[in-house]
Amino acid sequence: MRRYLYPWTKSEVKVFDSDVLVLGSGIAGLYTAIKSSEGCKVTILTKKTIEESNTEHAQGGIAAAIDEADSPALHLQDTLRAGAGLSDPLSVKILVEDGPNCVEELMGMGAQFDYHNGVLALTREGAHSQRRILHALGDATGWEVERALVAKVKACPNVSTLEERFVVDLLENDKGEILGALVLNAQTGDFEGHLAKAVILATGGLGQVYCFTTNPGVATGDGMAVAWRAGAELMDMEFVQFHPTALLIPNAPRFLISEAVRGEGAHLINSAGIRFMEDMPDKELAPRDIVARAIWLEMNQGPVFLDFRPIGEKRILERFPTIYQTCLKFGVDVLTMPLPVAPAAHYMMGGIATNTYGETSLPHLYAAGECACNGVHGANRLASNSLLDGLVFGARIAEKIKARVQSKRPTWEEVRSPELSLNRTETGIGEAVKQSDKQDLRTRIQDLMWNRVGILRNETGLREATELLLDWDRELLSISSVNEFETANILAVGSAIAKAALDRKESRGGHFRSDYPSRLDESWQKHSLQHKEENDVLYVPVSRVD
Ligand code: SIN
Repeated sequence: MRRYLYPWTKSEVKVFDSDVLVLGSGIAGLYTAIKSSEGCKVTILTKKTIEESNTEHAQGGIAAAIDEADSPALHLQDTLRAGAGLSDPLSVKILVEDGPNCVEELMGMGAQFDYHNGVLALTREGAHSQRRILHALGDATGWEVERALVAKVKACPNVSTLEERFVVDLLENDKGEILGALVLNAQTGDFEGHLAKAVILATGGLGQVYCFTTNPGVATGDGMAVAWRAGAELMDMEFVQFHPTALLIPNAPRFLISEAVRGEGAHLINSAGIRFMEDMPDKELAPRDIVARAIWLEMNQGPVFLDFRPIGEKRILERFPTIYQTCLKFGVDVLTMPLPVAPAAHYMMGGIATNTYGETSLPHLYAAGECACNGVHGANRLASNSLLDGLVFGARIAEKIKARVQSKRPTWEEVRSPELSLNRTETGIGEAVKQSDKQDLRTRIQDLMWNRVGILRNETGLREATELLLDWDRELLSISSVNEFETANILAVGSAIAKAALDRKESRGGHFRSDYPSRLDESWQKHSLQHKEENDVLYVPVSRVD
């Protein structure tokens, strides 16, 4: 089993050190870095620019029980219900109880949310029993959160950010403790070794595993893949969330059409103009997996549209300026005509298994945000709980590592030499695969994942996918560019999704098997766990204790 993507040698690597190393610059990475920075040196590494992340593209908002009519208990109830029996009650309790304070702190750091008549404006999204979603600039919440956190990070004297740094793999000592990361500096082409006392993966999601996704190009599952190769456990990888409504216009990206649009009253209609979700419980505001599947099935008969007009012109322009302008650019004026939409891969509920302090199964390695899985989202994440997750559990990591950052920094001598795990000839260096073939491999993986490991799954398709992915892994022998590393990561996490989906013989939340269409609590109310040294998928009970 591959340990490193690239056959590096210790002598070719430039070494850097800090107390805390944060990989990723979305909400989880930036907030955790700021919270960890008191009295210690923090380095953030990000693969493109500091702003570029899934966070920046979040539209809907941040869920928090701050309204008088609301309570953490109601938020807990909604989160557990959406999670389809697989959310860990302890994680959810922490999320909903710590959430309001973290949001207040975020506002203290400069994030400006929308107000209505002098009070914070709150909207509703699918499966929320209350209006509890804070939003900014109408529908550009993520952009505002990222703006505020980037400004705060830049003002923090103890935090430095290095852009265009791609994490290739994690570094460890002979005891298997994580000491840092091997990183490709995409500006210079140099390999760098970044050492730290605590390494925090906050690298975001993996939407690019699928050919249709709301995620930006950077979401290639890198954090999950590097943790996997280093021997960390991955949990609940079969649970991918497909957002019900992404723009469906030829040659346009699958731009997200926020759930808040339905929250404000938009209707889903089919080509005959019929509101096909009208008779279902909660109508268009049912949990995301239910709405996504309903649209998917309806699309067998013809196109599906989101009709904004019930919201009213004034409100559409006030609440959804970005969506309005984007749709207009692609030729649809949502004030006057319904918008063609389709589901697209949006969010990974699973990820690197952690406890509620972000600790992974590897010493000194932590994970926060979408790349992590502490069981909070179960089988289906409640809308707008993801930004909150990044804040709440990022803060807990910062708390947890306080003692650890008092210890001494690791040295380059302690880093286990790669030659022990891999030699250059084994990697096939020299058997260069043509660039065009590698591009094609990424497309093949994305198409296969969409068609066989997508919204509707079955035994035949999943088996075919797992076998093909295993075959295709052999094509990735000699790789050295960011693009190739990303493709290898997409393949690694795609394989983990397919394997867990094949093993889980039931349907629940984001995982729907047409050959096992029922939820089977007696046999399957448990988290899946995968480890690269184990052939079988393992399972652990839902109520995990720290
Ligand atoms: C949306 O605005 O619909 C996305 C928010 C989320 O993913 O929770």
